[in-house]
Amino acid sequence: MVSPGVTFLVHLAIHSGSKVAFVAAGVYYGSQRFLPYNLLGTGAAILISCATLAVYTLARNQIQCWHQEREAAAIGARLAPRVIGKWPGNLDIMRDVMAMRTTGYPGDAYLGLIAKYGPVFNTRVLWIDHIFTFIYLPSCLSANIKDMKYLRAVINEAMRLYPAVPTNLRHSICPATLSSPDFTQKPIYVPAGTTILYSVFLMQRQTDLWGPDADTFDPDRFLDGRLKQYLLANPFQFLPFGAGPRVCLGQQFAYNQMSLMLVRLMQSFAKFELAEDAFPFEARPPVNWKTASGRKAIERFRPEVHITMSTKGGMWVRATEAQNETVD
Ligand code: HEM
Repeated sequence: MVSPGVTFLVHLAIHSGSKVAFVAAGVYYGSQRFLPYNLLGTGAAILISCATLAVYTLARNQIQCWHQEREAAAIGARLAPRVIGKWPGNLDIMRDVMAMRTTGYPGDAYLGLIAKYGPVFNTRVLWIDHIFTFIYLPSCLSANIKDMKYLRAVINEAMRLYPAVPTNLRHSICPATLSSPDFTQKPIYVPAGTTILYSVFLMQRQTDLWGPDADTFDPDRFLDGRLKQYLLANPFQFLPFGAGPRVCLGQQFAYNQMSLMLVRLMQSFAKFELAEDAFPFEARPPVNWKTASGRKAIERFRPEVHITMSTKGGMWVRATEAQNETVD
């Protein structure tokens, strides 16, 4: 007769597919079956199982580590650095992402930025993108949207500082290498079965990738010399929609949707202001942010992350309706 404990462990093993649980089930069953039961009670059997589990896991990890180091060396690469306490091979960035999370930052806030930079934004969009030329048209065509270079730059800049998907990950099915950011270094070997978390949020604020003013909201960086200097030199540093075979399928749709929404808002309202007093108290930036570095010190709303980024408490703005103004 198989005891309920064994049945449970076997079920666990089957459902989790874990070799470790199989070993525990084996040891537990073996201890009950072959050792004198009255001498070695269930408690001792469980202790032995736990000890076996710990030894098995340590040995397995060590052997895996040697194996992966040999594989990496064989192809002239170095093993991806590990995050303390994580196995195996996650890139160091994960630690930074976790650090970011504990400080409680990120978020998206297109309207907030527009509110903050409203007057400049309005004038630039109206004059540069000629929205006023079809102000009375009932619809805004996708062809028009494509021509709105400054509007696109504003959206891109908002998605750079506040990517809606702030972190993403890839899981390696087979071993692979990543070229080292420092070309004098060996490539990085990524063993099969490694999860690599990367932070779009942090990458899109790096001063080495975007220039010393990386923390500043400045749509012109997508239009002037900085475009060539930074982004075109390395297009993969801007990943609000991801890239490669799994790039967002709705990217163009999303651009159209965001543009159309903004155009309609610009057409209907003359002015937007951030309504800081309307934010729920807990959604306001904490006082100690004022002395922090980076954008935190200047942030007037509180971004938050639940897989995607949003604004804590919602984005509160006051909009002044446009009068029937004409543009000469
Ligand atoms: C501002 C809006 C949006 C943003 C920032 C966004 C961002 C993303 C990101 C970062 C990914 C993952 C890419 C990767 O892992 O490499 C993704 C995947 C995807 N998105 Fe979006 N997305 C947006 C809107 C949309 C819309 C409107 C649709 C559909 C109409 C859509 C459909 C998809 C699909 C189907 C995938 C999965 C693609 C795949 O795995 O092959 N997205 N999106």
